[in-house]
Amino acid sequence: MESSLEIGFLRVAEKAALAAARTMGYGNRKYSDQVAVEAMREDMSKLNMRGTIVIGEGERDKAPMLYVGEVVGREQDEHGDTNPEVDIAVDPLEGTNLCATGAPNAITVLAAAEKGGLLNAPDIYMDKLVVGPTAAKWVSINNSVEENLRQMAEAFKRDVNELTIVVLDRERHHDLIGHIREAGARIKLIGDGDLSAGMSTAIRGTGVHGVMGVGGAPEGVLTAAAMRCLGGRIQARLRPLEKWQEQRLKDMGYTDSNKVYETNELAGGDDIIFVATGVTDGDLLRGIRFFGGGIRCSSIFMSLKANTIRFVDTIYRDDLTTPITM
Ligand code: FBP
Repeated sequence: MESSLEIGFLRVAEKAALAAARTMGYGNRKYSDQVAVEAMREDMSKLNMRGTIVIGEGERDKAPMLYVGEVVGREQDEHGDTNPEVDIAVDPLEGTNLCATGAPNAITVLAAAEKGGLLNAPDIYMDKLVVGPTAAKWVSINNSVEENLRQMAEAFKRDVNELTIVVLDRERHHDLIGHIREAGARIKLIGDGDLSAGMSTAIRGTGVHGVMGVGGAPEGVLTAAAMRCLGGRIQARLRPLEKWQEQRLKDMGYTDSNKVYETNELAGGDDIIFVATGVTDGDLLRGIRFFGGGIRCSSIFMSLKANTIRFVDTIYRDDLTTPITM
């Protein structure tokens, strides 16, 4: 993928974050999401790529923009050359509630890969187990929770009670939470945002060793794209929680409900780009900061092919007369 395109992706995530941050704390998650979607789509349309949305805002009949199958970008560049084909997965605002309430860890996310490099997963749920590189080879979603925690403790050369596992605070996790507590590990319950929690498992200093439980399948594919770049692992099983979701799986040709998806089945591309920009302050990224004369934003910007992970701080200046703020 061309580097000008990569920088373009960064800008797309940043612009969505700037738009969403202006609505922070308004208590209107739908509106926050809408402005992020609009900003993302507007900037994406300028990029030199023939992009197809494979993970987006939903099906065409439900989502007017960034729907699955939507073609984005431009057919040709300014010299008349045909642009490369790219598959795109987006979550224009991961943690709509977090943004609407001004809570930590709302981010905007975009992943891109060569054609076929990201699974077009249905918009249902997924049972997930996410760990960073240290424990990647030690766990299996087919093991019991207790066994996985024992293995993780061994991988980290520590006791189980020194592990912290992130779990979405949902009724459906009642038993899972019980098992983790019984095994003695600590739990960080989060209101939303298992994607940024998943990324945290692969970054030292965040204090997060694993993510367990059922969350969105689209977020699972995006987590896989991030983990490919970070060397971590996600294992997942599609989990329909309602009747319509079972039907949806059948309609999309998913017949084996027990199939375990490995990281490289969810995001199998060789040329993966992953970008996330902070909307509100979080464990990994700072949120958008508005100051007189400009706006500052923080992103993580990764390329699998180049094997690079960049933490990027960008300032959009209104003019050159006001000093920038740290
Ligand atoms: P939104 O950004 O769409 O609000 O999703 C946030 C999120 O918490 C994800 O991180 C998670 O995977 C999913 O929702 C869990 O879904 P649910 O809230 O239905 O349990």
